Amino acid sequence: MSAHSNVADAAATPAHAQGLGESDSVWFTLLPLLKDPDNPMQTIVRMCEKYGGAIPIKLKDRKIIFLSKPDHFKKVMVTDADNYIKYFDGLRPIFGKSMITIDGALWQKIRTPQQAAFHPKKFEEYLPFLLDAIRSKVDRWEKHAESGKSVEMVEETWTLAADMICRALFDREMPFNPHFVFGCVKTYTDVQNHKAIRDKSQHQEDFSTADTSAADAMKTWGSTPDKVMGASHVDDRQSTLLQMMLDAEADPDFPEFDHQQVVDEMKQYLWAGTETTALTLAWCLYLLSQHPDVKEKVRAEARALCGEDGEPDWEAAQNLTYTKMVIQETMRMYPPIWTFIREAAVEDEIDGVKIAPGDTIAMCSYAVHHNPEYWNDPYEFRPERFSKERMKARAKYSYLPFAAGKRSCIGGALSQLENALALAMLLRKFEPEYVGPVPAQIFPTVTLTPKEGLHFKIRKL
Ligand code: HEM
Repeated sequence: MSAHSNVADAAATPAHAQGLGESDSVWFTLLPLLKDPDNPMQTIVRMCEKYGGAIPIKLKDRKIIFLSKPDHFKKVMVTDADNYIKYFDGLRPIFGKSMITIDGALWQKIRTPQQAAFHPKKFEEYLPFLLDAIRSKVDRWEKHAESGKSVEMVEETWTLAADMICRALFDREMPFNPHFVFGCVKTYTDVQNHKAIRDKSQHQEDFSTADTSAADAMKTWGSTPDKVMGASHVDDRQSTLLQMMLDAEADPDFPEFDHQQVVDEMKQYLWAGTETTALTLAWCLYLLSQHPDVKEKVRAEARALCGEDGEPDWEAAQNLTYTKMVIQETMRMYPPIWTFIREAAVEDEIDGVKIAPGDTIAMCSYAVHHNPEYWNDPYEFRPERFSKERMKARAKYSYLPFAAGKRSCIGGALSQLENALALAMLLRKFEPEYVGPVPAQIFPTVTLTPKEGLHFKIRKL
């Protein structure tokens, strides 16, 4: 916890609200900057374009330094990374003490036994299990197509992403109702919900969020990892991520990796590894609905590599080149993690701005992804930007969907494989017709979500 957390309040706060949305958490502090009704990101984007450099802002007694230049990102996340620590106030119920939240030697120690599960040479082993999950989504979409009802796409893609993680990384059937758990997680990922929960808990009121109370949501989320561990094995594989973590727990020389660590790491994967992947696929389907020519090219690539009914083998999966460019361009326009937060541990100076220990550093990937200095016509959807030739010419650290440096995303490459396979398999059989408003409005919570969801009708081709 940072020096900013409201420790005094914690004792008086019911368990389900503890660690949630401290009033001085940066997620609330940023809200006044996100009020533009057309695009809540515009104020920050314009501010970064107009003032460039490092921009110090005082919000509610907190000094926040906005950074949006590639050189700044390099300094904070790569060159001087040890001087800037992770910030997670308000998100403890989601992540517990998992590695995404910790720093230094302990972070390295916790990450090391998990690293091998994310080496690209493991992906071929995961392929059949990813395809199993997509096949069950295809079955579900057959039913949606028959019923003609509209579906909310982030919910659809979240359940797919969760199923893929359970099967490929944990070797477990998904033992929970993903739509119910999705609702529970949303209680926590929507930071504006946190405020309501905090306010109501302070007034001792009863409250409900979506279909469940926040207390039940917390309980459901907290018990999900143990449910997954106890679920049926998919294939009795020995070298899964889950097994690597259980081996670490059983190691008498590794007391830090206790059972709670395994539980919290799983929570982290079931959120950081699913929400982001799901948002990317959902935004991608929205963008494709507005760009039918690009959608046809994705379909054509899938048909060329796997035929009308076949499924991608490992070689085809690696060659979904255009499909992967479409996914990369989606993450440029809608980076699921739109800003990375750090806390300065030492005095420093960035672009002439003095940094004091405790200052908050907000590195806005959305701003650099929409800055015309680095991207021509940044609001245009152009997957060709990600061709091999053009990528060579791009400024380093101007594209950061997965952050950078040693704390960058462990699952970035895996997520792109998951989404490329899903797009190829789903688009060959279905026409997802977007039925919501255009443009779809952004709602920045911890992640970049669609304000009203993304509603589609699924038609069979
Ligand atoms: C489109 C998909 C994804 C996006 C955009 C994304 C984005 C990110 C970003 C930006 C960070 C760093 C945050 C920071 O520095 O503050 C991160 C970290 C992390 N991500 Fe992802 N992620 C994605 C998919 C995944 C997947 C599939 C997994 C695993 C199954 C995963 C697991 C993690 C973990 C464990 C960390 C923490 C790494 C560490 O601190 O050592 N992510 N992700």
